[in-house]
Amino acid sequence: MTKKVLKYSVINLCRFMLAITFILSGFVKAVDPLGTQYKIGDYLEALHIASYIPDILTLISSILLSSLEFCLGVFMLFAIRRHIVSKIIFVFISIMTVITLWIAIANPVSDCGCFGDAIKLTNWETFIKNIILMAAAVTVWKYPLCMVRFISKSNQWIVINYTIIFIVFISGYSLYDLPQFDFRPYHIGANIKKGMEIPPGAKQPKFENTFIMEKNGVRKEFKLDNYPDSTWKFIDSKTVQISEGYIPPIHDFSIQKVGSGEDITNNILGDKGYTFLLISPHLETADDSQLDQINQISEYCTDNGYKFYCLTASTGKAINRWQSITGAEYSFCNTDETTLKTIIRSNPGLLLIKAGTIIRKWSHNTLPDEKQFSKPLEHSEIGTMPKDSVTGKILKIILWYVLPLMVLTLADRTWAWSRWVKNKEKSNKIYQLLKRKKMRKKIVAGNWKMNMNLQDGIALAKELNDTFTAEKPNCGVIICTPFIHLASIAQFLNQDIIGLGAENCADKVKGAYTGEVSAEMVKSTGAQYVVLGHSERRSYYNETPAILKEKVQLALDNNLKVIFCIGESKEEREANRQNEVVKAELDGSVFDLSAEDFAKIVIAYEPIWAIGTGLTATSDQAEEIHAYIRNCIADKYGKQVAEDTTILYGGSCKASNAPELFAKPDIDGGLIGGASLKAADFKGIIDAWKK
Ligand code: PGA
Repeated sequence: MTKKVLKYSVINLCRFMLAITFILSGFVKAVDPLGTQYKIGDYLEALHIASYIPDILTLISSILLSSLEFCLGVFMLFAIRRHIVSKIIFVFISIMTVITLWIAIANPVSDCGCFGDAIKLTNWETFIKNIILMAAAVTVWKYPLCMVRFISKSNQWIVINYTIIFIVFISGYSLYDLPQFDFRPYHIGANIKKGMEIPPGAKQPKFENTFIMEKNGVRKEFKLDNYPDSTWKFIDSKTVQISEGYIPPIHDFSIQKVGSGEDITNNILGDKGYTFLLISPHLETADDSQLDQINQISEYCTDNGYKFYCLTASTGKAINRWQSITGAEYSFCNTDETTLKTIIRSNPGLLLIKAGTIIRKWSHNTLPDEKQFSKPLEHSEIGTMPKDSVTGKILKIILWYVLPLMVLTLADRTWAWSRWVKNKEKSNKIYQLLKRKKMRKKIVAGNWKMNMNLQDGIALAKELNDTFTAEKPNCGVIICTPFIHLASIAQFLNQDIIGLGAENCADKVKGAYTGEVSAEMVKSTGAQYVVLGHSERRSYYNETPAILKEKVQLALDNNLKVIFCIGESKEEREANRQNEVVKAELDGSVFDLSAEDFAKIVIAYEPIWAIGTGLTATSDQAEEIHAYIRNCIADKYGKQVAEDTTILYGGSCKASNAPELFAKPDIDGGLIGGASLKAADFKGIIDAWKK
């Protein structure tokens, strides 16, 4: 595994760990907004500020907290807004770690409530969990961009809005109805009596006795195992619990009749018939909008012989008030406030139990109506346990939330992938074009040879100058003229558009070489190029590879760029020796150059049999040998230099055959003899690059 893969794996593992924790933690809180509100209340109580904060504020905080956690988790899962989300998660966990350290040390609440009632951790376990999450949060915060996106940036808003709507709806619905998933020991189907039982063999609480004894005025503490002899006088003893025993899920459930104080817990739980329990931790704050319905249910119970009690933690005064405003005729009993809040998250809420088992639970907003009470419970649907509602709810969540997001992700990823493939193809093409354009210059160079007197030459150069100033050519243009023209043409030629070059230079630096023109002299005219190695010079003036090597070196020394010609004769072509010939010409004159100097060379392949004869190499023939030449350069100087070298074709190149020749990948332009002597002909060839 490479280092990069390992890094990405670790970061994404941290991301999923955080995402799942936040989603779970947010969701279990959201399905029980009142439970979360009570937990916030516990914290405020521990800080002694509960009485200053109104309930509505703690309820809003509960919904905001659960929504925030859930959204952060989902955003992290999808890698949405990676920078900001990872920062918020880091800050969130930092705050939580500090709080949980306080809880672990000071023990103000017994359960932090991180996962609502779904998963209970001890305070130290919670702190350790937060330390692990903190490490993960630091990792993703440092490398947010390593989190692989599950959804493109342009579609993130869909997930963001959908998630916010979903979790706020879940909170609101759970608040209106009851927690959609009930993790408490009083869930539907639970038998309260069973929940209170201590199974045989369960861990017993352990106690330790200490005895304080005195002898000769000295007091000392003893345990049972070192209890002293009778010379010591017993003074006092202490009993301390040293370990907790098994605590049953329901351990504080009891019902006392208001007034008599009689404990009727066992009567109610042992009753084989139906019992309705109207649960209201505080009658003072209970919702009284459904009073009539509650009274109707109570009457229905009287008519059908079912029991109906109101369990509350409120005192007699509040009960009297409730009785007077509602006309309640049912009995009131007292139960612990926290127990009542745990039983049902609604004030008031209604519970139907049979033989101690909870059969139905209703919030005051969703109480059963008259129709449902038309028959005795024994024959009615509400008298039986509802069908497995948990699976149904999970399915609904999958159908309404998970599935749409999965479909969206799938569509988005397919779209992103096809776009990526297209872009890659496009950028590859652009890259190739740019590379070709940038690295390898396209050139059309004219070689006037021994034509044109000074005036005609100047006139032609002027015409070309005007033509290409008016209409910029699509390639580099060079004119290589006899020596006598150079200085005059250099005066007016716009060399940004048309480069100027000589057709030859001497193989000596300077001195007594009558009739010769040195590279330095060429340069001094204002020219930038020189043609060397032309076949006419090789054959008519016996320029050997060694002489040409000298010339090339001198040209380069004088900052002239060289158009170096190579090419085979007719006989050599017929003997299929063209590759060997061009290779030898390169080896003989330019392949000793440094790569840096070689970069200043333009190669012109000119089959001698095609020069001025009207015969042209076919584009395939030309391409074949151009490719071979490029290979030779690659072998000598490497692929990059080969790719960057301009290789021109020369030999009866005209406007009519130039497009086909120039279309070949290894032909980068032409060295033009006859057709460069008329502006229109020359332009026709140059225009081939526009096609
Ligand atoms: P040509 O000459 O175009 O007249 O064939 C080419 C050359 O010699 O450079």
